[in-house]
Amino acid sequence: MATGDLTASAALVQAAQDEVMAGIDRLFDHLLTAPADPRVRLYEAMRHAAIAGGKRLRPLLVRAAGDLFHVDRVLSLRVGAAVEAMHVYSLIHDDLPCMDDDDMRRGKPTVHCAFDEATAVLAGDSLHALAFEWLADPATHGDPFVRVELVRALAHAAGPAGMAGGQMMDIAAETASFDLATVTRLQQLKTGALIGFSVESGAILARIPAEARTPLRGYARDIGLAFQIADDILDVEGDEALAGKALQKDDAAGKATFVTLMGLDRAREQAALLVEQAIAHLSGFGEEAGLLRAIARYVVERDR
Ligand code: IPE
Ligand code: IPE
Ligand code: MG
Ligand code: MG
Ligand code: MG
Repeated sequence: MATGDLTASAALVQAAQDEVMAGIDRLFDHLLTAPADPRVRLYEAMRHAAIAGGKRLRPLLVRAAGDLFHVDRVLSLRVGAAVEAMHVYSLIHDDLPCMDDDDMRRGKPTVHCAFDEATAVLAGDSLHALAFEWLADPATHGDPFVRVELVRALAHAAGPAGMAGGQMMDIAAETASFDLATVTRLQQLKTGALIGFSVESGAILARIPAEARTPLRGYARDIGLAFQIADDILDVEGDEALAGKALQKDDAAGKATFVTLMGLDRAREQAALLVEQAIAHLSGFGEEAGLLRAIARYVVERDR
């Protein structure tokens, strides 16, 4: 691809990402208003973790997929806030001493460091619950069937058949010697499931029937995997200041990842191949899928 194309692609992502970041921060500021009672600490902890941070990739995907079908962006932003709340909960718990025991996240002290462990557990629990409350709210969609489908899809993506199941396998990866197929499955659950929800929810909001969502599912599966390969590569050679979190943790934990199994060069090749494959899934769409194509490239070209 010519450099000019790359720059246009990166600029497309940047512009949409800036808008989504601002929109998500505004919405969280409103939805997480702290009450004037002893729960204020819980709200402060949620706000610390959720506001002003991260790449907002999942809400960006909801918007990009929703745009394909002309979904009202107010609705895709609400669904984006729900999936981002679920993601932030997973990060708060992932950083706890009983899991990865990390001190820094998104360039700030992790919630259990800035507050305390009990508050971090409860802030995670609360964001998890709020994600479903926001999806089930009539403001998210006028059709209750759509709302139930969103709730069910997010529950599936977050639970034992999704993120939580992947986290369990990730812990096992420190002591078991997993092969590439098992690590792929692990990552599809740990990271891929919420990314899959983000893409598919755009189609759910537009009432696109499940059988017509196959290309989007294929796209999401490929970018989810490419995203996680990039995370593993950044863990080895990324910049901690840019990442805003501790790196080189996978090797230290003796964890099987794409990089430990394939080496850096093959991991990079594989990620690039997945991006091309993801874009190929969108061949039935025209210009309107430009942002999704650009996000696929961004997922592996990012430096944080
Ligand atoms: C980090 O996710 C955890 C993984 C699932 C690999 P992101 O890289 O999307 O983190 P933020 O949201 O930008 O902080
Ligand atoms: C966490 O994976 C993924 C979640 C589901 C939270 P990692 O442990 O690899 O994420 P980082 O590297 O801490 O962001
Ligand atoms: Mg972890
Ligand atoms: Mg971690
Ligand atoms: Mg990681």
